[in-house]
Amino acid sequence: MRSYNLIAPAKINLYLEIISDRPDGYHELAMILQSIELADKINVQSLSTDRIRVNCNHPQVPTDKSNLAYRAAALMAAKFPEALAQYGGVEITINKQIPVAAGLAGGSTNAAAVLIGIDLLWKLGLTKPELEELGATLGSDIPFCVAGGTVIATGRGEKLSPLPSLDHIYIVLAKYRSLEVSTAWAYKTYRQEFGNTYLKDTENLAARAAAVHSEVIVKAILNKDTREIAQKLHNDLERVVLAAYPQVLQLRELFATQPGVLGTMMSGSGPTVFALVESEAQAQAVKLQMRAAIPDEDLELFVTRTITHGIQVASSI
Ligand code: C5P
Repeated sequence: MRSYNLIAPAKINLYLEIISDRPDGYHELAMILQSIELADKINVQSLSTDRIRVNCNHPQVPTDKSNLAYRAAALMAAKFPEALAQYGGVEITINKQIPVAAGLAGGSTNAAAVLIGIDLLWKLGLTKPELEELGATLGSDIPFCVAGGTVIATGRGEKLSPLPSLDHIYIVLAKYRSLEVSTAWAYKTYRQEFGNTYLKDTENLAARAAAVHSEVIVKAILNKDTREIAQKLHNDLERVVLAAYPQVLQLRELFATQPGVLGTMMSGSGPTVFALVESEAQAQAVKLQMRAAIPDEDLELFVTRTITHGIQVASSI
């Protein structure tokens, strides 16, 4: 096979709690991550040279070394030089559907697809845990994007333990196209403003475990109780992002007043806000209500749903 088409789903955070800061500048987290159907399409194919090339249909996405997908391919080339010599370089084509810099792991899921695609192209036979470990060196959300489904993520976000999958919960996403929030800024600001309210770079696992408050939503997930899940959504980063970005606060407040919305929250470091709803018909109705309330074309709205998997191979030639 010389070419693979992969589907790379986005994620939302059903839960994001900041437990402590860490000496490496990152934060110790307790998150619940959920794959959603909204996805990018990625083609990975062999080149006759040893180069890495990235193409993307989205003008905001860089195609140079700053692209995480490029860096995923460069990592594979550095780790497996014999395979690079035997099979040649790779051309990566990204068909972007996931909003960029949105808190939906768009870049991370592209990188995860590239790791999986190159593993197949180069017949490396890497296991999922091996691919997740490689992904963790590039970004905190990449291991989850390799795994997919419904997962508790701790550490920087790279330590995963699966939960029973939540299938077919309908979601409406809202994001202002022109609005981007830097993840590094959000964590840094949180540390500056609320650093005194959580643990300081503790190695004490018992103290860390005691600081986590996710049991209620985990129980709701185990019971597959969508209403209860929607009531227990949480994201610590809302404290800084909603305060600094009135447009995100506006979406959050508007969703909360729409009939049919069971619960609403910002995803990751934002600025995407999502709402959980009972059915597809209600999701479409909520989308229309949001559009009527905010006719601004800069506002992107999507209806999607939870899915039970991460990256999938759609076809190969
Ligand atoms: O790992 P990733 O590159 O996706 O993280 C982007 C930025 O988000 C990091 O540079 C860091 O500032 C912040 N971050 C953090 N703690 C985490 C994950 C990310 O402070 N657990």
